[in-house]
Amino acid sequence: MYTPDAIGTPGTSSACRVLLLGSGELGREVTIALQRLGVEVHAADRYAGAPAHHVANFAHTLDMTDPSAVRALIEQVRPHFCVPEIEALATDALQDAEDEGLAAVIPTARATRLTMNREGIRTLAAEKLGLPTSAYRYASSLEELAAGAQDVGFPCVVKPVMSSSGKGQSYVAGPEDVAAAWDAALAGARVSQQRVIVEQYIPFDYEITLLTVRGVDPRTGETATWFCEPIGHRQDRGDYVESWQPAQMSQAALDNARSVAARIVGELGGRGVFGVELFIAGDDVYFSEVSPRPHDTGMVTMASQRFSEFDLHARAILGLPIDTTLISPGASAVVYGTDCGESAPSYTGLAQAMAVPETDVRIFGKPTSHDRRRMGVAVSTAETVEEARARASEAAGRVHCGAAE
Ligand SMILES: Nc1ncnc2c1ncn2[C@@H]1O[C@H](COP(=O)(O)OP(=O)(O)O)[C@@H](O)[C@H]1O
Ligand SMILES: [Mg+2]
Repeated sequence: MYTPDAIGTPGTSSACRVLLLGSGELGREVTIALQRLGVEVHAADRYAGAPAHHVANFAHTLDMTDPSAVRALIEQVRPHFCVPEIEALATDALQDAEDEGLAAVIPTARATRLTMNREGIRTLAAEKLGLPTSAYRYASSLEELAAGAQDVGFPCVVKPVMSSSGKGQSYVAGPEDVAAAWDAALAGARVSQQRVIVEQYIPFDYEITLLTVRGVDPRTGETATWFCEPIGHRQDRGDYVESWQPAQMSQAALDNARSVAARIVGELGGRGVFGVELFIAGDDVYFSEVSPRPHDTGMVTMASQRFSEFDLHARAILGLPIDTTLISPGASAVVYGTDCGESAPSYTGLAQAMAVPETDVRIFGKPTSHDRRRMGVAVSTAETVEEARARASEAAGRVHCGAAE
């Protein structure tokens, strides 16, 4: 992969240019991290005023699932690196750009292609790599889904193959719930593709994100793999509510988790941060999914690590040294929006939130708000994870998002 031997100056022909595809809150932090290293960042999203648009050198608005639009933007920007921040992209255009040597894709074009669809990554993990996963079937009709659910057994979980943040996902207790799950999946899918995965429900003890970094080892000049301390998190309706680091785990479970993570990121290759999602039951580890980019539950690292997952992504992209040191137990808690209709959202309670010890708040600057939309995050440190969780939740609860006057 291309590694710059020098970083030029933003806004000049010498600039090291990154095209960020997807400009949400994670991309915003990646943008800031890259800019601190002198990189020129072009942030793209489908709507104007996305979180990273506010902080990037250049903002672009386009349909990122349209291959010709993505291609045209790559030709216009001439980035050294394309850095996907979301799954729903014209990944064929990225593959072409990589194949033609037009731009390096982070971590690789193949990884973005495989992970944009649950089917691609699950089949790779379970069938090619033999990683432990829940039993699963794919279905393209209600009849296939009913049969697949019988195969994996009840309870089970149904998800569109293309969706994120729990959208279109249902818990299915028994055969009587299958038809409703099919309808919910079709309604919640990102693209109008009638395909779902049905997974055996895993009654895990807890779930973690293992942030895993592929970067250049300065001692050898070769690609190597680093692990952050495991991140515990709580999901509500498939969407993250709070996270904490380090998650308490047995040494055996941690060893298994690292082994699973190393195998999946080794297969995906390239450089960057990966969020490996794992379910833990006793010392057993089930691979769930992987983001080939920073992970929402990893926002805790803005408080808990010497270098956040965003700093680490920037360093890994540029081939700079990786340091995953945890400096304190920490936690994050999501600040939710309320329905603001057409009005711009506005925030109160920041002073009260920041009055909580060892606590910081990030507001993402999204132009519209609705119920349960993620608008900000509180991050805290403390001597223990329990205390950090209490602080972050308290602080997040003190921030109120409402319609601006
Ligand atoms: N097979 C399963 N068994 C138990 N819980 C599950 C299963 N699949 C998903 N979940 C729960 O739903 C959450 C979201 O599912 P996930 O597959 O990660 O979807 P998304 O891509 O929307 O994040 C998981 O973090 C977990 O809490
Ligand atoms: Mg997930």
